[in-house]
Amino acid sequence: METINTLKIGSIEVIPGENGSRVPFSTTVAVIDDQKRATLIDAGAGKRAFQYINEQYEVEDILLTHFHIDHTWGIPYFKDANVKVNWLDHKKMVSIEELMKTGGNYAIYGASGIEAMIETPDVKRFEKIIDRQKYVYPYDETFNVSGTRVEMIHTPGHCESFCCPYFPDEGVIVVGDYDLTSFGPWYNNADSNIDEMLESAEKTLAVNAEHFVTLHHKGVFTRKDYEEQLEDYMNIIFKREKKLKQLIDDGVPTTNIHYQELFYRRKNLDQAPSLIGFEKIGIAKHLERLQNLYPIYKEYYEQFVQEEFKAPEFVHYSHR
Ligand SMILES: [Fe+2]
Repeated sequence: METINTLKIGSIEVIPGENGSRVPFSTTVAVIDDQKRATLIDAGAGKRAFQYINEQYEVEDILLTHFHIDHTWGIPYFKDANVKVNWLDHKKMVSIEELMKTGGNYAIYGASGIEAMIETPDVKRFEKIIDRQKYVYPYDETFNVSGTRVEMIHTPGHCESFCCPYFPDEGVIVVGDYDLTSFGPWYNNADSNIDEMLESAEKTLAVNAEHFVTLHHKGVFTRKDYEEQLEDYMNIIFKREKKLKQLIDDGVPTTNIHYQELFYRRKNLDQAPSLIGFEKIGIAKHLERLQNLYPIYKEYYEQFVQEEFKAPEFVHYSHR
């Protein structure tokens, strides 16, 4: 068996994903009891990690922080585990169409446009996850997983179901996609919300944790480092907002605003045109916030969603 460099904090083992846990991989966290039974937080680390976990432990449960495929694609590697989700994901993880509405593809391409997408391998990966039986765990209540107490703190924004598992006895919080990368916060689904992402960042600091586990790329932070770097990371939102205002004030038309590198580099959009949808949803989220702050941007916002989306009524999509 290949060795994997994991990090142990009490009953918790942090198992890094392949390629530095960069998307489409993510770090998997295991909670282990003294009988070597385990509960996983998410399942996106990679086949080697899944093999390591299955050889070491008997996986009882998998708790998902949110539905995103980079955190869930490994579920089929754990056939006997119970998959547990929050009530919001329980409503979303029922069909490809529902996930398309949540993700924003439905808004971009409309009902007829997503029919072709459903047949692509990228989308087909979701089918096995959708078909798997799921149980519901509660938000914001303490319960036991493999002998350790956990609270799934609801931290919407990144997507509306997103939550951060907090282990009070170990002083650990899994902050997941508050990943402190230079890209900045990601809120590019139809169910994402910038104001909530800002509020939820504060929530991650409100617990008595010393270890902050990000699930992509940068790994585990001490409280001091997380607190310092979170501020810079969240400030990227305001930098994007300022840039967007400037672009509009300079006269960039709604038809070209998605090509101004607010989120993704042009070369990435050219290489992977599917990212254009995420870019446009992210811009719509900013424009919605901008028009609330400054009514002069209302017209631009309305024109943008009417022109750039086939189903503009799905640009913002929520189950709450
Ligand atoms: Fe995510």
